[in-house]
Order: sequence, then structure tokens, then C-alpha cells
Amino acid sequence: MFPDRVLSGMRPTGALHLGHYHGALKNWVRLQSEVECLFMVADWHALTTSYDDVSIIGKSTWDMVIDWLAAGIDPSQATIFIQSRVPEHAELTLLMGMGTPLSWLERVPTYKDQIEKLSHKDLGTYGFLGYPLMQAADILVYRANQVPVGEDQVSHIELTREIARRFNHMYGREPGFEEKAEAAVKKMGSKKAKLYEELRTRYTQNGDDEALESARALLADTQNLSMGDRERLFGYLEGRGKVILPEPQPLLTESSKLPGLDGAKMSKSYNNTIALRETPESVTKKVRGMPTDPARGRRTDPGNPEKCPVWQFHQVYSDTNTRDWVVKGCTTAGIGCLDCKQPVIEGILAEQKPMFERAQPFLEDPTLVRNIVEDGCERARKLAGETMRDVRESMGLDY
Ligand code: TRP
Ligand code: SF4
Repeated sequence: MFPDRVLSGMRPTGALHLGHYHGALKNWVRLQSEVECLFMVADWHALTTSYDDVSIIGKSTWDMVIDWLAAGIDPSQATIFIQSRVPEHAELTLLMGMGTPLSWLERVPTYKDQIEKLSHKDLGTYGFLGYPLMQAADILVYRANQVPVGEDQVSHIELTREIARRFNHMYGREPGFEEKAEAAVKKMGSKKAKLYEELRTRYTQNGDDEALESARALLADTQNLSMGDRERLFGYLEGRGKVILPEPQPLLTESSKLPGLDGAKMSKSYNNTIALRETPESVTKKVRGMPTDPARGRRTDPGNPEKCPVWQFHQVYSDTNTRDWVVKGCTTAGIGCLDCKQPVIEGILAEQKPMFERAQPFLEDPTLVRNIVEDGCERARKLAGETMRDVRESMGLDY
């Protein structure tokens, strides 16, 4: 039907930290060589909570894009773009908003959570309520079928699916749909047409799922159908209209194995981060200052790695040999905590080295970054424009 396509986004929060890398970016880097990927700076989403302080959005955006590039997002494989440079996102948000019940938005779990958590801000706004609707438009405007997100965003993908389903149901029935579908059946050739009709009857009348699967496979390897006819026949099969906006799936990224320096979640607001491009001196100082198992008050006191955040860093950065050395040395007081931290420091520095190298040309010449993003926005606008043509047509706006 539609080609595999990944879309994901981050709000521009400025320089990223290693938690972002292990929680999301590393996964994006892997995906970009497997499937078409679009990575978006969600600057309008940032405005839903920071509408009263817009001064840092620009700088945060460029810093974040440089970090993406530093982490290995490759503009020759993936499309990097900025949401606000693709006005189609706003148009689709507006059009889908016509039929989206308020209650759907009010019951999204992040809505009440965030209002409570950010109680110092007035989030009783139209824009903030519309946050997940805008996110749905981000995804659907590219007909992306896979969305890498963390656990906290799954409810937004679920809402996206409901909005797409409702849209297809309301607007996927073009006038004369049945006639057009029947005509498309004939184009399959008499043998395949007969088989399709049989399978369709078995599914629509008896709910035979195997028949549905077979009919889908049949359509998939019928070559002489146009995109439009193929879509109609998929829809006709299930007794629904044409799919204009396909329902996406979340690609759940397992939560970052890398905690913050204090063992809690790594987050700027907890002041426990290591930036992606933190200097080696600062990395060394921060790791050396990490809290350890409190039982090791003195060098001669044995400890337990399970009670120590440094151990979690070893899970990410050390091989089995080193980890065995840690367990033995910690529990017998054979090593000191500073000895134990040294391989972690080296692991982080080794991970960061290629990131610094990749970032260097972009720091020296910011127009390189601007050009990459300019190209990405252009490509995004082209893809989004194609979807919007179908959306306008199906909503009767093509007069
Ligand atoms: N809401 C996402 C977050 O806070 C960011 C985002 C905006 C996004 N639009 C998106 C993520 C579309 C995935 C797809 O992390
Ligand atoms: Fe933590 Fe290592 Fe010290 Fe044990 S030796 S408490 S694991 S830093």
C-alpha cells in the first residue's frame, strides 16, 4: 500500500545528553540504514509549553541538529527537517481538528500529568490541549507507518491511530466508491477477480480471517493495478473506504539503560547529565564525583555494585572482563571507587570521540547545517504536499 517510512521527532531542548543518545538517537542511527527515515525538530510542540519564552527556540534547534549529526544521523540517508518550515503540518492539524472530539484529547494521560507537573505554567490553552493532535498530523502527513518513541508517547500514537481511522471512515468513501471498486476488480483479470470476490465474501459474510489474509496477498502480487485501484480494493475487501491516512505503529524503544550520574533518570532538570559533547575534563570530573555504594565509606570497606550507579554505567560501557573485575574488586575491597570509575570514563570518552569529530565541520561552518536542514525541509514539504492533495480532495476542498 504505502511504503515503509519512519518518522520521529524531538522538541528542541538544546544540547542533548548521553541519556538521549542511549534512549533514542542510537536507535535512529540504526534505523536510517534499514528504512526511509524522517527526523523532525518539533519546534511548534516546544511552543505549546514555552509560548511565553520563545527566546531560546532558535539556538536550541541548531544545537540539537548538530548533536543529531554528531551522533551519526546521516543526511544522505535520513531527512532532517524543522516542523515549522513545513506548513502542511498546520493545515492537517486544523483539518483533522474539525472532527476530533474534545474528550479524546482531554483523556490523553500526558495531558493531565503535564498540567500537574508544570503547575507553575498556565497550560489551560487550546494549543496545549491540541499537542497530541498536532503530533498525529506530524506522523500522518508523511503516511509514516512506524514511529520510534518511548513508553510515555505510546498513548499519542494510539490517538493518532484513532484519528486516522475516523478520518478514513468519514472521508474515504468517495462518491461512487462501490462502482469504482467493482470496476477495479474487473481489471484484475477474470481468474483473479473471481478469487478476490470469493475471498471477500468469505471475509465479509463469515468473518474468515484467513480469507482476508489470502485476499491481501492476492492484491499484493497483482501487478497491473494503479495505486488508487489497489487502495480501493484493500478498502472494499474489509467493507471500509479507501485508506487516505494509514494507521502507524509505535516502535517502542526500550528505555535508556544509562541513568543519570546519581542513578536517577538522566534529565536536565535533575542536574545529573553528561552532555553528548561534554569536554573530556568535565566528563572525568563528573564521573569521579559520582556517588557510590554508601557502605564503602573507607577504601577498606567492601561494597555491593547493585547499590551503586557506577555499576549501571559499567553495564553500558564495559565488557564482561571488566565487569567481573568490578564485582570482585568491589565486594572484596580489592579496588577503590576511583579505580572502578576509570574504565567508565574511558568508555564514555571513546564513545564521544567520533561525535566530536563529526560535529567539528558543522561548528566551523554553520551554513553546512543550514543547508542540510534546508534540503530536508524541501523534501519533507514535497512528501507532505502529496498527502495534503489527497486530504483536500477527500474532504471536498478541491473545487
Ligand atoms: N511529543 C514528542 C516528545 O515529547 C515529540 C514529537 C513531536 C514526536 N511530534 C512527534 C515524536 C511525532 C514522534 C512523532 O518526545
Ligand atoms: Fe561502585 Fe565501583 Fe565503588 Fe563498588 S567499587 S561502590 S561498583 S564505584
